[in-house]
Amino acid sequence: MAFHILVLHGPNLNLLGQREPAIYGVVTLASINQSLEALAQELGVTIECLQSNHEGILVDAIQGAMGRAQGILINPAAYTHTSVALRDAIAAVALPTVEVHLSNIHQRETFRHHSYVAPVAIGQIAGFGADSYLLGLRALVNYLQAKG
Ligand code: DQA
Repeated sequence: MAFHILVLHGPNLNLLGQREPAIYGVVTLASINQSLEALAQELGVTIECLQSNHEGILVDAIQGAMGRAQGILINPAAYTHTSVALRDAIAAVALPTVEVHLSNIHQRETFRHHSYVAPVAIGQIAGFGADSYLLGLRALVNYLQAKG
Protein backbone atom coordinates (compact mmCIF):
# COMPACT_ATOMS: atom_id res chain seq x y z
CA MET A 1 0.00 0.00 0.00
CA ALA A 2 1.32 3.48 -0.88
CA PHE A 3 0.99 5.60 2.23
CA HIS A 4 -0.33 9.13 2.01
CA ILE A 5 0.95 11.62 4.61
CA LEU A 6 -0.53 14.96 5.63
CA VAL A 7 2.20 17.54 6.36
CA LEU A 8 1.04 20.47 8.49
CA HIS A 9 2.90 23.68 9.26
CA GLY A 10 1.54 25.97 11.97
CA PRO A 11 1.55 29.74 12.44
CA ASN A 12 4.35 31.99 11.22
CA LEU A 13 6.12 29.18 9.40
CA ASN A 14 5.14 30.89 6.13
CA LEU A 15 7.83 33.43 7.09
CA LEU A 16 10.67 30.90 7.27
CA GLY A 17 13.76 32.24 5.56
CA GLN A 18 13.22 35.75 6.89
CA ARG A 19 11.85 35.01 10.37
CA GLU A 20 14.47 35.03 13.17
CA PRO A 21 17.06 33.31 10.95
CA ALA A 22 19.46 32.85 13.87
CA ILE A 23 16.89 30.51 15.41
CA TYR A 24 15.03 29.04 12.44
CA GLY A 25 17.64 29.20 9.67
CA VAL A 26 17.38 30.67 6.20
CA VAL A 27 15.57 27.82 4.47
CA THR A 28 12.13 28.79 3.16
CA LEU A 29 8.96 26.79 3.67
CA ALA A 30 8.71 26.22 -0.09
CA SER A 31 12.17 24.70 -0.02
CA ILE A 32 11.29 22.45 2.96
CA ASN A 33 8.19 21.25 1.11
CA GLN A 34 10.29 20.53 -2.00
CA SER A 35 12.78 18.50 0.04
CA LEU A 36 9.91 16.60 1.65
CA GLU A 37 8.40 15.92 -1.77
CA ALA A 38 11.73 14.54 -3.03
CA LEU A 39 12.13 12.33 0.05
CA ALA A 40 8.52 11.13 -0.22
CA GLN A 41 9.21 9.99 -3.79
CA GLU A 42 12.36 8.20 -2.66
CA LEU A 43 10.39 6.45 0.11
CA GLY A 44 7.49 5.60 -2.19
CA VAL A 45 4.84 7.63 -0.34
CA THR A 46 2.76 10.65 -1.27
CA ILE A 47 2.41 13.83 0.75
CA GLU A 48 0.25 16.93 0.81
CA CYS A 49 1.48 20.07 2.58
CA LEU A 50 -0.55 22.79 4.23
CA GLN A 51 0.53 25.84 6.23
CA SER A 52 -1.93 27.91 8.21
CA ASN A 53 -1.82 30.69 10.77
CA HIS A 54 -5.29 29.66 11.95
CA GLU A 55 -5.91 26.99 14.57
CA GLY A 56 -9.35 26.03 13.20
CA ILE A 57 -7.97 25.48 9.69
CA LEU A 58 -5.36 23.12 11.13
CA VAL A 59 -8.07 21.29 13.13
CA ASP A 60 -10.17 20.97 9.94
CA ALA A 61 -7.16 19.62 8.04
CA ILE A 62 -6.49 17.00 10.73
CA GLN A 63 -10.14 15.91 10.71
CA GLY A 64 -10.09 15.88 6.89
CA ALA A 65 -7.16 13.45 6.91
CA MET A 66 -9.40 10.72 8.29
CA GLY A 67 -9.85 8.03 5.64
CA ARG A 68 -7.48 9.84 3.25
CA ALA A 69 -4.09 9.81 4.95
CA GLN A 70 -2.31 7.14 6.97
CA GLY A 71 -0.17 9.53 9.01
CA ILE A 72 0.47 13.14 9.95
CA LEU A 73 3.75 15.05 10.11
CA ILE A 74 3.20 18.29 11.99
CA ASN A 75 5.13 21.31 13.14
CA PRO A 76 2.42 22.93 15.27
CA ALA A 77 4.72 25.95 15.84
CA ALA A 78 3.35 28.21 18.62
CA TYR A 79 0.19 26.07 18.90
CA THR A 80 2.44 23.32 20.26
CA HIS A 81 2.44 25.17 23.55
CA THR A 82 -1.16 26.37 23.64
CA SER A 83 -3.55 24.21 21.68
CA VAL A 84 -5.76 21.65 23.37
CA ALA A 85 -7.83 21.77 20.15
CA LEU A 86 -4.97 20.46 17.98
CA ARG A 87 -4.15 17.83 20.55
CA ASP A 88 -7.78 16.67 20.68
CA ALA A 89 -8.05 16.60 16.87
CA ILE A 90 -4.97 14.36 16.62
CA ALA A 91 -6.33 12.11 19.36
CA ALA A 92 -9.75 12.01 17.65
CA VAL A 93 -8.52 10.91 14.23
CA ALA A 94 -6.08 8.43 15.82
CA LEU A 95 -3.62 8.72 12.91
CA PRO A 96 0.05 8.10 13.71
CA THR A 97 1.54 11.57 14.11
CA VAL A 98 5.13 12.80 14.32
CA GLU A 99 5.77 16.23 15.84
CA VAL A 100 8.72 18.20 14.50
CA HIS A 101 10.42 21.48 15.36
CA LEU A 102 13.23 23.30 13.64
CA SER A 103 14.65 24.56 16.93
CA ASN A 104 15.33 22.55 20.07
CA ILE A 105 12.30 23.72 22.05
CA HIS A 106 13.70 22.16 25.23
CA GLN A 107 16.74 24.41 25.09
CA ARG A 108 14.68 27.59 24.74
CA GLU A 109 12.30 29.63 26.94
CA THR A 110 10.46 27.60 29.59
CA PHE A 111 7.08 28.22 27.95
CA ARG A 112 8.32 26.27 24.92
CA HIS A 113 9.24 23.18 26.95
CA HIS A 114 5.69 21.91 27.18
CA SER A 115 3.94 20.41 24.16
CA TYR A 116 0.23 19.62 24.15
CA VAL A 117 0.84 17.53 21.04
CA ALA A 118 3.66 15.31 22.32
CA PRO A 119 1.44 12.97 24.41
CA VAL A 120 -0.66 12.11 21.33
CA ALA A 121 2.29 11.84 18.92
CA ILE A 122 4.39 8.74 18.26
CA GLY A 123 7.43 10.90 18.88
CA GLN A 124 9.02 14.31 18.57
CA ILE A 125 12.07 15.50 16.60
CA ALA A 126 13.42 18.92 17.49
CA GLY A 127 16.59 20.90 16.94
CA PHE A 128 17.81 19.81 13.52
CA GLY A 129 16.54 22.75 11.51
CA ALA A 130 14.87 21.78 8.24
CA ASP A 131 16.29 18.26 8.68
CA SER A 132 13.82 17.74 11.55
CA TYR A 133 11.09 17.46 8.92
CA LEU A 134 13.03 14.97 6.81
CA LEU A 135 13.95 12.86 9.84
CA GLY A 136 10.32 13.05 10.92
CA LEU A 137 9.03 11.85 7.56
CA ARG A 138 11.49 8.93 7.58
CA ALA A 139 10.46 8.01 11.13
CA LEU A 140 6.76 8.16 10.28
CA VAL A 141 7.14 6.05 7.12
CA ASN A 142 9.30 3.49 8.97
CA TYR A 143 6.63 3.29 11.65
CA LEU A 144 3.81 2.82 9.12
CA GLN A 145 5.77 0.19 7.19
CA ALA A 146 6.61 -1.72 10.36
CA LYS A 147 2.94 -1.64 11.35
CA GLY A 148 2.04 -3.05 7.90
C1 DQA B 1 8.86 25.93 16.38
C2 DQA B 1 9.12 26.21 17.86
C3 DQA B 1 7.95 26.94 18.50
O1 DQA B 1 8.20 27.20 19.87
C4 DQA B 1 7.72 28.27 17.80
O2 DQA B 1 6.57 28.90 18.33
C5 DQA B 1 7.63 28.15 16.33
C6 DQA B 1 8.51 27.21 15.63
C7 DQA B 1 10.08 25.31 15.69
O3 DQA B 1 9.90 24.74 14.61
O4 DQA B 1 11.20 25.39 16.20
O5 DQA B 1 6.90 28.89 15.67
O6 DQA B 1 7.79 25.02 16.27
